[in-house]
Amino acid sequence: MTLLIKGGTVVSSTGASLAEVLVDGETIVAVLSPGCDAAIAAEGGATRVIDATDRYVIPGGVDVHTHMSFPFGGTFASDTFETGTRAAAWGGTTTIVDFATQAYGKNVRECFDARLAEAQGECAIDYGLHMIIGDVQDDALKEMDRLVDEGVSSFKLFMAYPGVFLSDDGQILRAMQQAAGNGGLLMMHAENGLAIDVLAAQAVERGDSGPVHHGYVRRAEFESEATHRAIQLAKVGAAPLYIVHLSASEALEQVAIARNKGMNVFAETCPQYLYFNLEDQLDQPGFEGAKYVCSTPLRTKHEHHQADLWTGLRTNDLSVVSTDHCPFCMKEQKEMGLDDFRAIPNGFGGVEHRIDMIYQGVTQGEISLARWVELCATTPARMMGLYPRKGVLQPGSDADIVLYNPNHPWTISVDNHHMNIDYSAYEGVTVPGKVETVLSRGRVIVEGGQYLGRKGDGQFIRRGLSSYLI
Ligand code: URP
Ligand code: ZN
Ligand code: ZN
Repeated sequence: MTLLIKGGTVVSSTGASLAEVLVDGETIVAVLSPGCDAAIAAEGGATRVIDATDRYVIPGGVDVHTHMSFPFGGTFASDTFETGTRAAAWGGTTTIVDFATQAYGKNVRECFDARLAEAQGECAIDYGLHMIIGDVQDDALKEMDRLVDEGVSSFKLFMAYPGVFLSDDGQILRAMQQAAGNGGLLMMHAENGLAIDVLAAQAVERGDSGPVHHGYVRRAEFESEATHRAIQLAKVGAAPLYIVHLSASEALEQVAIARNKGMNVFAETCPQYLYFNLEDQLDQPGFEGAKYVCSTPLRTKHEHHQADLWTGLRTNDLSVVSTDHCPFCMKEQKEMGLDDFRAIPNGFGGVEHRIDMIYQGVTQGEISLARWVELCATTPARMMGLYPRKGVLQPGSDADIVLYNPNHPWTISVDNHHMNIDYSAYEGVTVPGKVETVLSRGRVIVEGGQYLGRKGDGQFIRRGLSSYLI
């Protein structure tokens, strides 16, 4: 079956132009100048034509940081692969890269196999997996090599969460040396977890046990110190490094210094750090702030973090926007920390809203249209070894395509979102544009306000090495 998307403005990471996109089966076969449909008609015509007049036609979003059903603090993230990928599709994301987790003392291979089995047959869109290495030992290091060969080419380590996920500096260095040898990309949760836990215990001891104190004790200095340390270890280990969910100006400064020295250091931020802050979201009356407990935390609005993050997105010191989608309901999940913020599961739900939230950056004059596509689709695909299959509209690429209406303001609410969360962190936010039509490998999965996808249609994608390795 052939499908022609005509009349729209095709936006890529290099610019925008009127063009027509021809799809055959699951693949894009041509991106044509306007009017070329006459030639297609002469050849017998496309089976289906989609009118994209006044719409942007963009590559499907690639969200390289999600945690469906993630085990954390005695519970599991509330979106499963089924519900989370469906919500992602509604929001114009057609590929996620989620995580398999090796818990302390566990075997990497067994953990990976179990996670892959959990995802298979469940996803509405294509997906890949990173591997969290929670216990860097000889066996785990060897398994990293095998996983790279199998399309799992990135590994997350934690400098936070002592006793759960934290790796010490020696373990981090060993994992980096291994990645340097096998071409894998090391992703780092860069926060000094041991120091955070000291301040957290002191806060609770003096009675400061509400959600806002989660933000106060996870100080920006701890993020910047860990970011600096990770960069130095990566230099010694000769490994590329990708800092996840960066939120503090000081940490961004460390990334910029390393990049200015020519190091292969990259970083992502997330919509919540660009639009929310400690005072307005975390520091709300009662337990409301728990909705916004995530790590790294939302930062104070008085220190220019957000302005600096936007600058970083323009200078490319921040090269990806992901969501770190890791939702927990208020009822029975976030509520676990009613008396002590340390027991609030850390995480933020937003896989459905990334494309819309970052499009605001275009209308607010922070980034260009092309940069929006680059941050949300093209660079994540290149960073995580998915390009050019994903992240770009060009012949040979998967037909993962979004028709975006830039003139359709609407207001986000728990009543209209599709994520499995009993609140919306974005409640009441009015965004200027809307995802209207979504294709996943040539299949129309969202159209006319209807979800037409199916669980199980999403495939596991064996990823190559990052395009940014040198
Ligand atoms: O608060 C967060 N970010 N939860 C998810 C786990 C992680 O550290 O990415
Ligand atoms: Zn993390
Ligand atoms: Zn995460």
